[in-house]
Amino acid sequence: MEKTINILGLAGSLRKGSYNRSLLRAAPELVPNGASIEIFDLEGIPPFSQDFENQPPEKVKEFKAKIRAADAILISTPEYNYSIPGVLKNAIDCASRPYGDNAWEGKPVAIMGASPGMFGTARAQYHLRQTFVFLNMHPLNRPEVMVPYANEKIDANGKVTDPKTREKIQELLQSFVIWTRRLKEG
Ligand SMILES: Cc1cc2nc3c(=O)[nH]c(=O)nc-3n(C[C@H](O)[C@H](O)[C@H](O)COP(=O)(O)O)c2cc1C
Repeated sequence: MEKTINILGLAGSLRKGSYNRSLLRAAPELVPNGASIEIFDLEGIPPFSQDFENQPPEKVKEFKAKIRAADAILISTPEYNYSIPGVLKNAIDCASRPYGDNAWEGKPVAIMGASPGMFGTARAQYHLRQTFVFLNMHPLNRPEVMVPYANEKIDANGKVTDPKTREKIQELLQSFVIWTRRLKEG
């Protein structure tokens, strides 16, 4: 029997009613057999300072251990000012340091994102892909899950109600598990 693929899910928003956290919460219901998703909350990761990178706070140590223990990383992110929200970029930076101790090294990664606007986080997602180059992560190229007009697709309880959006997340997860297995088999 194939080993279970453990995916660590991260939302790039701390907002209580976050559409992006809603996308992530839908993922465990849509993940294929043979894979599981654990969500890690970025709340509490302090602003990064290189002065303290050799003595990281407990939350950052815990975060890096979770990343290392995961087979793959799933990020659901908003777009802020055409780019990656500071909360997510800060978390990425924290786990990438100190030099030589990059927890992201070699990890398969997939992205999705939701916005009430019409571009569904496209610009943030391409900026995020750029950071994966230096982190030496392995992003899944397709399908791209960019959810525009998210307020019409996610209800007041945070449930993703739009069938097409659920289908897209399901497709992403299926491709992502295949991608992760392929990379692990090397
Ligand atoms: C600082 C800031 C900048 C934003 N910039 C963009 C943007 O560039 N593109 C966009 O589609 N939405 C933008 N928005 C709107 C967000 O898409 C919206 O607040 C969304 O709900 C955030 O994701 P969340 O629901 O997961 O918190 C911005 C919101 C904030 C607070």
